[in-house]
This record gives sequence, C-alpha cells and structure tokens, in this order.
Amino acid sequence: MENYNPTRVIFSEFNLSEISSFISLHKKTLLVISETLLNLRPEIPSFFPEDTFLYSTSGSNPVLQTIDKIIFPESCSQVVGIGGGSKLDITKALFAKLISNNLMSLEKLVENPHLLDPFKSARAQYKLILVPTTSGSSSEITKWGTLWDFEKKKKFSVDNEVLYADTALVDPRLSLSAPKEITAFTGLDVLSHALESIWNKKRNFITINFALDSIRFCIEALPKLLKKLDSLEYRTAMSKACLLAGYAFSQTRTSAAHALSYPLTLFHDIPHGFACSITLGSIFDYNITKNDAGLNEVLDIFKNRYGNRDSSFHDCYELFLEDCEVPSKLSEYGVRQADIPRLVDNAFHPDRFNNMLCNLSLKQVKDIYHAVL
Ligand SMILES: [Fe+2]
Repeated sequence: MENYNPTRVIFSEFNLSEISSFISLHKKTLLVISETLLNLRPEIPSFFPEDTFLYSTSGSNPVLQTIDKIIFPESCSQVVGIGGGSKLDITKALFAKLISNNLMSLEKLVENPHLLDPFKSARAQYKLILVPTTSGSSSEITKWGTLWDFEKKKKFSVDNEVLYADTALVDPRLSLSAPKEITAFTGLDVLSHALESIWNKKRNFITINFALDSIRFCIEALPKLLKKLDSLEYRTAMSKACLLAGYAFSQTRTSAAHALSYPLTLFHDIPHGFACSITLGSIFDYNITKNDAGLNEVLDIFKNRYGNRDSSFHDCYELFLEDCEVPSKLSEYGVRQADIPRLVDNAFHPDRFNNMLCNLSLKQVKDIYHAVL
C-alpha cells in the first residue's frame, strides 16, 4: 500500500488581500482566475506582484485546443489558479506547458503524460498555488487536469506528479456565491469521487476511511445546502467532503461512473457532476456483490438517512437525489433510447473500467444507461 499527496493544504478563512503571505512576491507570476470572480472582485489582481500576467475565463469543460493557444510569458515561475475546478484544470495545463519550457503542445502532453518526467528535477524552481472557489473536482489536491475536445468527442488529462500543487488554499467562504445548479453538480461530483474510490481496485484503508467520511458529510450537508445556499455551515461541510474525497481519489482515480459520464457530457452537454453521479445507484449493486468492504458502510449511511433495514442502495440514492432537487433520469436532460448505442460505444475507457471491482460487460453498461433513462 502506498499513499502520496505532497500538497500543503491550508483549510481556513483567509482574505485574498493577504495572498502575499502564501505566494512569492519576487517570482514572475501567471494568475488564472475565474471571470465571474474577477467581475465580482476586480481588485484581486492588485494583491499580486505588479508584472503579474493575468488570464481570466468563464464556463466549464475547458477545450484543449483553446487552452493550447493561450500565450503567456515564459519567464513566469509562479502560477496561481483561483476559481472552480475547470479554472484549476486550466491552471495545471498551463503549468505543465510552463515547466516543460513550452516545448510541447498540450495535445502531445495529454497523449503521453511521461513527457513531463524529464522536468521533475526542475519542478522545485516553480510554484503552483491553487485556490478553489467551488467544492467539486478537488483539482487543488490531485495531479491531473481535465481537458475536452468537443469536436473529436474526447476527454483528456494532463497528468503527472509535477502537477501536484505546492499549496492549496481552501476557504469555504469562497464558495458562498456559487449558484444552485453549480453547487448541486459540484457537490454530486464530490460524492461520485468518494464512491468511485471505494469500489476501486486501488483502494486502501486510508482512502476508504477518507471516502466514507466524505460521504457522511455529503449526505448530511448537500441537500440542506441546496435549500439554503448562503449557509456557511453547509458550505464548510461540503468543502471538507471535497477535501476528503480528493485525498481518497487522488490515490485511486475514478472508475466506471466517470467513464459512463464522459459521452453524456460530450454528446449531451450534461454538466460533469450530474453526468457522473446519475449512474451511481445502478453501479453500486454490481460492486457490492464483488466485495462489500466499505460499501456495506455506505449502504448503512444511506439507509439510516433515506431508508430502512430492507431498503436497497438504489432506492435510498433516488430519494437522496430527490432531496437534492436534481434530475435522476437521463431523459430529463433530453437523452433518448436511440442515443444509448452511441453512449455505450463511447463509454469504454479501459483505464477507468479496469479500476473497478466489478468488470462491467458491454451489456451491463447498456443496462446501466437504460436503468437511468
Ligand atoms: Fe469527477
């Protein structure tokens, strides 16, 4: 068993105006920031060194070709990302290009993550600081960043140990302005990461315990938060859930629920957190029959909150989604029966499927999509 996560995490209230205590004021800095946050707080860049290069953008699912075209000063040796998971993923993609001296395109770097290996020795000369403003992807403590190609209908990752942030600054107050839909799908992404790390072949006793704690926070806090978006108490609980899930799945990675989600996002534009959580109820049953360690506890957590002794996970999970006031069926996103063959054809990501306790067959994948249609 091996566990490795080198990121220094600071989980506390802090003011962005005091970010100078966490960054170097002498390094040429690249700041990637959410456009929404920048519009709300236009003073933020003034907290950074004067010659900071700023890149701001909005929206989810960063497009690989767009990010590849961003031009930034190669003299930067500090990169700071402030925003939701997509902004942090962009930050890591640019950091990957920066530390590899901008010698390779992102297209090459996502094709072969080992291309970053020769730059491990130079990693200490650079700083990467990530500040999440949503509780979702845990990108601040993972070593990968997700990029998309909507033309070729593919999802990619920049992925290497050099992409672990030096510091993650987590302040739950930064998520207070996230609207309901974003709060819902990022929160469900957290739950998916926790569950996918439990039914994962790479799980260990540390990841299982982190994931179970994450699930306890999610199930208690998320439905309440979605009814009271300005609750710092529930925002804090979801920040903790996100951090715990991040610690778990940064070791195991995700598995089949994420693989099944990618075509839902690529072909039907379903936000990632909804897409990867909608099948959890169906996938659970396949895995608990293989090995119930950890999953029995998950079942108990859900039964205690949403069922009784005889309830199935599936039933409890449906009630949980109902409590979160989010769709539990693909048809609510416009997916039709005729779309399922294409979804199945595009769902097989061997590395994700091989991660899971239960090896799903093509027929089982089809059955899962049908079950949530
Ligand atoms: Fe995810």
